[in-house]
Amino acid sequence: MIPHSERRDHRQERAERMTVRVNPIVRPRLLDLFCGAGGAGEGYARAGFDVTGVDLADMPRNPHGFIQADALEYLEAHGHEYDAIHASPPCQGYSRLKAMHPDKGWPLLIEPTRELLKATGKPYVIENVEGAPLHHYSDLFGNHGVMLCGSMFGLGVERGYLRRHRLFETSFPVPQPACRHQGRAVGVYAHGGHSGKHRMLYRAEAAEALQIDWMTRDEMCQAIPPAYTEYIGRAMLRAMRANKPKLRGGVSRPSGAPCWALRNTGERQWKSSRRN
Ligand SMILES: C[S@@+](CC[C@H](N)C(=O)[O-])C[C@H]1O[C@@H](n2cnc3c(N)ncnc32)[C@H](O)[C@@H]1O
Repeated sequence: MIPHSERRDHRQERAERMTVRVNPIVRPRLLDLFCGAGGAGEGYARAGFDVTGVDLADMPRNPHGFIQADALEYLEAHGHEYDAIHASPPCQGYSRLKAMHPDKGWPLLIEPTRELLKATGKPYVIENVEGAPLHHYSDLFGNHGVMLCGSMFGLGVERGYLRRHRLFETSFPVPQPACRHQGRAVGVYAHGGHSGKHRMLYRAEAAEALQIDWMTRDEMCQAIPPAYTEYIGRAMLRAMRANKPKLRGGVSRPSGAPCWALRNTGERQWKSSRRN
């Protein structure tokens, strides 16, 4: 006869196995590189991801899982442990700031980040400012990209719409919405006063315009409005569900190969089957 204590163990084991089997709500894990205080990460969380951020600086207000580390080193060592990856490399080296301070050596991290992201084979997103070397349109070679603006999501305050254009290169297709610029543009900038014709917002208005209430104003200056990454995250989830095996890291034309070289790849077949 089985002793009472062993029977209890057996029942416990069975209960644990059943718990695993009947719990269908497993959120896919998203790695948010260069996460800052978590604007981009928050959008992915709203879309349904379990988010872990990585930043060189400590980010006590980031509301998601957080690891303080160099993003590229962490990506190389741990990227494969996640289901999807977002990266917001520093933008100063690609922005108008660079022209104003040509002597400053801003790091240019988009290329090395892209290489490491592709090597993981996971679906990925790279975000940056206008002018950065990102794909910002979809083509026939497995490159995808969109430009997002606050006006597409009704973001702003009573006195103006939020004009914060950001590029997103993605390894999966995302529909490009149209800008709906109407009336006055407002923005959240690091310096005082105006930025050209765009009126600047102070903290309370900035929080309302970005739909972010947990950051300092300085952190808001750098943040992606969560509405943007919620939109991207939903497209990523749709693509992951519809076509999981074909999402591996995007497909790019081998250097030097003619444009028809990808004609028979899975990516091309996938695009045409989605169109039908
Ligand atoms: C544009 S901000 C990110 C904003 C964030 N995506 C958001 O939506 O709130 C860029 C961040 O990259 C971080 N950073 C810069 N170089 C880094 C590196 N090598 N590794 C990790 N983080 C880095 C900075 O500390 C900064 O917080």
